Amino acid sequence: MSSVDLNSKIPNNVGLADDPKLQRALEKWLPNYLEWWHDMGPTDFEDKPVFLRTAISVERGGWANYDYVKMPDYRWGIFLAPNEGEPTIKCGDDAGTPAWLDVPGEHRNALRRIIVTQADTEPASVEQQRLLGHIAPSLYDLRNLFQVNVEEGRHLWAMVYLLHKYFGRDGRDEADELLQRRSGDADKPRILGAFNQPCDHWLSFFAFTMFTDRDGKYQLAALAESGFDPLARSTQFMLTEEAHHLFVGDTGIQRIIKRSAELQALDPNGDVRAQGGIDFELIQRTINYWYTYSLDLFGGEISSNASSFFASGLKGRFHEHRFEDHRAIEGEYRLPVVEGGKLVEKDVALRNAMNEVLRDAYVADCERVIARWNKTLETAGSPTRLSLPSRRFHRHQGIYAGHAFDPQGNLISAEEYEANRSRWLLVPEDNEYLLSIMKPCYEPGKFANWIAPPTKGIEGRPVEFEYVKLHD
Ligand SMILES: [Fe+2]
Ligand SMILES: [Fe+2]
Repeated sequence: MSSVDLNSKIPNNVGLADDPKLQRALEKWLPNYLEWWHDMGPTDFEDKPVFLRTAISVERGGWANYDYVKMPDYRWGIFLAPNEGEPTIKCGDDAGTPAWLDVPGEHRNALRRIIVTQADTEPASVEQQRLLGHIAPSLYDLRNLFQVNVEEGRHLWAMVYLLHKYFGRDGRDEADELLQRRSGDADKPRILGAFNQPCDHWLSFFAFTMFTDRDGKYQLAALAESGFDPLARSTQFMLTEEAHHLFVGDTGIQRIIKRSAELQALDPNGDVRAQGGIDFELIQRTINYWYTYSLDLFGGEISSNASSFFASGLKGRFHEHRFEDHRAIEGEYRLPVVEGGKLVEKDVALRNAMNEVLRDAYVADCERVIARWNKTLETAGSPTRLSLPSRRFHRHQGIYAGHAFDPQGNLISAEEYEANRSRWLLVPEDNEYLLSIMKPCYEPGKFANWIAPPTKGIEGRPVEFEYVKLHD
């Protein structure tokens, strides 16, 4: 089961060759996928060799191969993490009983919805990032962008496999629709808000991989606890790839911060923009923007859907095994709600607060990264500190949507919010400025003025390695 067939048209460790009907269906989907990649994937770099890692096994430590690959030739495949022991349902009413190896009829619709929603984010982010190669700050960063893109493509494959294998006709239709929706399209948008926002410069790209891919990590981790075993094992393997996407975002912003601090010290007036860099206010606005759109992805604070997904064992908490009580029938969760024009604390049943419990783990993770960035500022001798806004600020989903809050989480009037918008959030003038300073920098070892080089290269290669061969 877990040995990988790399020679087949679709590399896999799911025994595709033993299921000719499924294999045929996926081989029919393959050219449509490639057409989508050609139309909506990274523009204009299709014939350039990129130093990419490709999954070739699912064994810990040794699953990746690094070599030059042209992106359309990337070996997208289907990989499930190996099964360790007898899988069980990890949470909810049936915690501890054997996991489902097939889709239980009563949970079929909910599971399909969960899988389609996750699947939709994967091609969406590729679409959002398709023009970024033209303004890459270095070959190192260009390669990282493309690595993220091909892996999001593979994540789509992972979810499409589940749809084809376990959901029959409906699943095949859903798989086709995943190639038809388009990020930001007025008629056929992607399902979730953050995945329809423009991501047209590298500050947004790094913030997206830092905050939005990190939501992905928590959603995948919650699905890795699913009682539907094939979903749990698909997402477990996706998480190993996701770690690199978070690295790209975290270190990308950290390198910008480092460079901005250098430029701040260099300028007689401490003016980062006068030196062609990215000022800290703009970095803070970008954090505020992408962090809050990413918070929305966790869903409503008080949610009967979240309760039923947990109760039926479809979706667990982050690291469910670390909790003592896997049923969570008794507990309560306290959170601030808006009542009569002010914020008051309210207790809700723990199961109804499962989205919020997952969001807590995410927020704590983001806080740790911000603390590291502030350490970078401190080391550079800069007095500036960055922070996360309140989770009530700038929300479009859940109980805080429809109310106005400042970044500290205080309830304010809609007028006050609008008057401060351009101080708190990315605005079109910010994007114009960022596009004006972001010119491609394609010489090996060279970096754009607004970002510091990384401390080391990829897979033991030096920073000045030719990560993308633009000229043969
Ligand atoms: Fe992904
Ligand atoms: Fe990702």
